[in-house]
Amino acid sequence: MEYEIIRKSRVDESDVKPNLPDYEKMRSEFSWDSVRRELDGFENGWLNMAHESIDRHANSALKDKPALLWEGKGGEEESYTFSELKALSNKFANALCGMGIKKGDRAFIFLDRIPELYVSLFGILKIGAIAGPLFSAFGNDAVKDRMFDSGAKVIITNPKLKKVVDNIKGDLPELKHTIVINKNNRDDFKPGDGETCYYSVMENASEEFDIVKTDEEDLSIMHYTSGTTGKPKGATHAHRAIIGQYATAKYILDFKQDDIYWCTADPGWVTGTSYGMFGPWSNGITQVIFEGGFTAKNWYGVIEKYKATIWYTAPTAIRMLMKAGDAIIKNYDMSSLREIYSVGEPLNPEAVVWSNKVFGMPFHDTWWQTETGCMMIANYPSMDVKPGSMGKPFPGINAGIIDDDGKDVEDGVEGNLAIKPGWPSMFKTYWKNEDLYNSRFKNGWYITGDRAKRDVDGRYTFIGRADDVIISSGHLIGPFEVESVLIEHPAVAEAAAIGKPDKIATEIVKAFVALKDGYEMSEKLNREIAQFARKKLSAFARPREIEFVDSLPKTRSGKIMRRLLKARELGLPEGDTSTLEDD
Ligand code: WT7
Repeated sequence: MEYEIIRKSRVDESDVKPNLPDYEKMRSEFSWDSVRRELDGFENGWLNMAHESIDRHANSALKDKPALLWEGKGGEEESYTFSELKALSNKFANALCGMGIKKGDRAFIFLDRIPELYVSLFGILKIGAIAGPLFSAFGNDAVKDRMFDSGAKVIITNPKLKKVVDNIKGDLPELKHTIVINKNNRDDFKPGDGETCYYSVMENASEEFDIVKTDEEDLSIMHYTSGTTGKPKGATHAHRAIIGQYATAKYILDFKQDDIYWCTADPGWVTGTSYGMFGPWSNGITQVIFEGGFTAKNWYGVIEKYKATIWYTAPTAIRMLMKAGDAIIKNYDMSSLREIYSVGEPLNPEAVVWSNKVFGMPFHDTWWQTETGCMMIANYPSMDVKPGSMGKPFPGINAGIIDDDGKDVEDGVEGNLAIKPGWPSMFKTYWKNEDLYNSRFKNGWYITGDRAKRDVDGRYTFIGRADDVIISSGHLIGPFEVESVLIEHPAVAEAAAIGKPDKIATEIVKAFVALKDGYEMSEKLNREIAQFARKKLSAFARPREIEFVDSLPKTRSGKIMRRLLKARELGLPEGDTSTLEDD
């Protein structure tokens, strides 16, 4: 079905002038060097993300401007100015130094969205260490794999999540310190061996700290992301990433100094750091951090209460809001909103049309990845929105659609979405996996792993993943990770995981399981395996459906043919099965 283009006529009428008024003009004039000159930097080309995000403003007229407006799960409220964040992150930097943490060490954060998460992360960056934020819903194995692979020396957590750390500590020889933040009951924590109370070290630490001079190529932050095979990979960024995050936030999210911005993503994912910390704060913007979970009431309530003007969220949440119905929106004042954005999975055209109806503005889809560090393709406030399209490449970004040999394909033809390397926030490596990093580049392109097409008007449309990676509620899930956990169960002989299309979550994880001899298929065993997997993985990566099968289709070389399982599940043609092993 064809959807009508949504005209952004408001742009001419309102007095809010977009930072990017003319896309083509900006594209022809854009230079990353001039963006960089808008940031402070240090002498000799040194650059530090914490300085650009926090201290730069704390040392300016913005020093008393609120940077962070926090609302806790229980309705608690806290607010921090740029100078308060500077002082607190300085204290934390001093505390880390006192514990012997140095430049280049990995420091992981395993917390809910509390202000201390942000303080810790900037403290880590200030000493030149590498921050690794983890999602608080991760189970034992998810945390262990990431901590082990990165060789993290320190983890910052809370008393509840520390139980996970206690379970896996024995397998983490490089972990030396556990810093515990007992926010709700500060005096009630008695540190054990290798444990430190956050509030006691902070109390004794100085507010003065000289940020460690980092080169723009020095590593700053790592996010683990899933591929088709193997464990999650640590996509690691350099301090130069801030240049891309600053520019895209300015020109796509279109920040103005009095904006109140709300990014719904958790910092365990790249959206929650690139645009839940670096993008907005490097622009000196006030942002809301909401610790609570999703309900339509909660979310509309946040927008009304904080008079949010810019809102960045994800398709699964948007579909859940659509499901909650239009009537509820009338109970809230949404009139503060100026622009709204989405990322992470395909945004259905219906959702764009719906938002235009109920909020009076379309969601602007944006496309990027953990590896790209900042938005690559987007819809801009000054541009008409074509529902179902991801928009156009950011000025300074060269995107292309290429065939498997690396050659350009014609407009309108499906191919591999690729980006010309060299943008500032391009990831620097996969941690300890340089070969895999190199394998992502071909014929002078960075290959994204997505299939897409470019329309004649230069807009890009998403088609699907080129691999077996599952997208559920905006999270990438490697089938191999799920399969590895399933086969750890004593009854499971072999397992395969696929993404099964789902109206809300894009896909859910479905697993096919063949049992070992001597085990009987039963409802009870099915539930037991599901619970087993849930405990080891995180809530979103757990298989929501498990189907028992006698055996799995494999290639002659023994690879499970997930593609075939998926085709069968969806009732689609089985395609080329010439490599299928004989039964
Ligand atoms: C993959 C990257 C970057 C933020 C969160 C995801 C899919 C991302 C879109 C979009 C369709 C999208 C792609 C991409 N994706 N944005 N606008 N439309 N699909 O980061 O976990 O690294 O996932 O998410 O498949 O490759 P990530």
